[in-house]
Amino acid sequence: MTTDRSVTVNGDPVPLPDDPRVSLLDLLREYAGLPGTKKGCDQGACGACTVLVDGRTGGDRERILSCLTLAVQYEGRSVTTVEGLADGDLHPLQEAFIDHDGFQCGYCTPGQLCSAVGMAAEARRGVPSHVTADVTRSEVELTTAEIRERMSGNLCRCGAHHGIVAAIATTYAGAGR
Ligand code: FES
Ligand code: FES
Repeated sequence: MTTDRSVTVNGDPVPLPDDPRVSLLDLLREYAGLPGTKKGCDQGACGACTVLVDGRTGGDRERILSCLTLAVQYEGRSVTTVEGLADGDLHPLQEAFIDHDGFQCGYCTPGQLCSAVGMAAEARRGVPSHVTADVTRSEVELTTAEIRERMSGNLCRCGAHHGIVAAIATTYAGAGR
């Protein structure tokens, strides 16, 4: 059973189920028919379920772990999944992942992509990371070390991190400011 309340996912309304315990991740995969967002650990430890939500300040989209989020928390708000990331064929970051071998099995990739888009927006807004906590934002570029630290919540069991970081650096280094 669903209600007449909804979450907007990639521009389309998805009715909320009656059961308020349904996670946003399960809403996407089981109710909205969008299996791109992956369930790895289902307990906030791997980042595979990362999606983007409308910014609370009305600005950039923010990254969240959809497995730790109840769908009802996002009633009336907008969610972007990997299926809605690109305006055209592929997002520039997806192109970069291909160019830099940023995946092997691909299971972590949707979460990596959404997380990196949100990560770049965080860096732009000046949200501090451990790497940059002691310097002012104007003094730093989005370095490889900073990317690794900011993306540390997204695990890759295939060990494709080198290509992942290279793809993100190609897309956002310097442009993240
Ligand atoms: Fe959400 Fe692992 S499935 S963090
Ligand atoms: Fe297989 Fe990352 S590409 S888990």
